[in-house]
Amino acid sequence: MSTLTVHIKSFGCQMNKLDTALVSAALGKAGFTPVDSTQEADVVLINTCSVREHAEQRVLSHLGHLKHIKENRPDLVVGVIGCMAQRLGQELLEHEVVDIVCGPAQIPQIVGLVQERLQKNEKTLAVTENIRKEGLDNKELEEFESVYDIANKEMPGQAYVRVMRGCNNFCSYCVVPYVRGPEVSRTPAAIIKQIKKLADEGVKLVTLLGQMVNAYKYITGQKIYSLADLLYMASEVEGIELIRFVTSYPAQKFYDEILKAMADLPKVCNYLHMPAQSGSDKILQAMNRHYTAAEYLQLLARAKDIVPDIALSSDFMVGFPGETEEDFEATVDLVKKAQYKNCFIFKYSPRPDTVADKKLQDDIPQEVKKKRNIKLLAIQEKISAELSKQFLGKTVTVLVEGPSKKPHLDSAKNGYPQLVGRTATNWIVVFNGPENLAGQFAKVKITKSSPLTLFGKLGPV
Ligand code: 5AD
Ligand code: SF4
Repeated sequence: MSTLTVHIKSFGCQMNKLDTALVSAALGKAGFTPVDSTQEADVVLINTCSVREHAEQRVLSHLGHLKHIKENRPDLVVGVIGCMAQRLGQELLEHEVVDIVCGPAQIPQIVGLVQERLQKNEKTLAVTENIRKEGLDNKELEEFESVYDIANKEMPGQAYVRVMRGCNNFCSYCVVPYVRGPEVSRTPAAIIKQIKKLADEGVKLVTLLGQMVNAYKYITGQKIYSLADLLYMASEVEGIELIRFVTSYPAQKFYDEILKAMADLPKVCNYLHMPAQSGSDKILQAMNRHYTAAEYLQLLARAKDIVPDIALSSDFMVGFPGETEEDFEATVDLVKKAQYKNCFIFKYSPRPDTVADKKLQDDIPQEVKKKRNIKLLAIQEKISAELSKQFLGKTVTVLVEGPSKKPHLDSAKNGYPQLVGRTATNWIVVFNGPENLAGQFAKVKITKSSPLTLFGKLGPV
């Protein structure tokens, strides 16, 4: 029998990217050959996100596209995995092209589910009935995670390491606690073992992942391990040169010890992604965020004080129910004060099951959401443009990711392809250089800056 081919399409956050990598490794080990397009695939898996309605709509339109392919190739196996699979379960299974629906807690079973479907003509639903009760704290998931821990194929030399699963925060707009279950921290021993293994495979940068990564807490015997402890332990691992962590939540649990570890440890990148979501106290309260704008700014001030060259980034949401022009202006004000390197800005999208959806009217018209989104982006762009100028004429060290996906016309040419790398503080740097630099460190002299990208010339390594 010739080997079967699989194509995985992935939506969503880094957690999802990591799940995609694990699933892909498990299928590879079981003999499936990965392919880049749906056309060539015997099995198509879609790893989905539910965070905004738009993310779910993209999946539904992709399923529509698969319908045409399946008309000519009825044997094509289609599986939906991830957050949307967990959220919609049976409803998704009833979609005419879908054969397998597999939630985030069931991904260790994916190979078996696919093989079963290839043998029998039956649809399968594998999701957790009550995820808030059952959660994602099971041995099977932990084993799956440690057996298939792998470096990021798209970005050589880099890997994601999950330190926690789930979330207990219940921001009123957010679907995550309902699809990923309650918060649970993995054991420090498992995390460090994994980082060591990754370092042995040549990984230089690890990004520690958690929905609220600063809440990491593992109690064993007399000792309580925190994120700061993990940073110290990960720093000891030989071969690892850079450590990042996302996403940070700006409340009580963001202890100074994390900032001190950042200042103390050369391997820990001076970069903090700490979503504020809004600058209006009224909206923050309605979002069930446990801080005021002033407290948030105080925390940033402390971060800048302890780690002077820290680079900051954030997420914001515009058009949350009840957001007046005044509330929006408070967000604009916060963005101006914070001086982020970059921000992700989203239009509020009501999510079923969440408190905001159940209790609040989605009363801000689309045009207003769009207008506020564009305005906030423009303000941030100016700030980013100013901050990026500081690099002009300087030489920065980047970890090279690989060839640029969107080649920029105005970069200097020296017979080499255009590459993309990132500084420790997460600035994107574009330059020309040999492709085999991917996964290596390089020194680049910055010759041009733009709000989100720095351009430069490769220096002697
Ligand atoms: N609508 C719009 N944006 C959302 N986010 C989370 N939930 C929603 C929602 N219902 C945004 C937040 C979060 C980021 C990952 O996605 O800004 O930080
Ligand atoms: Fe990630 Fe949340 Fe989207 Fe799930 S819903 S993929 S946890 S962003």
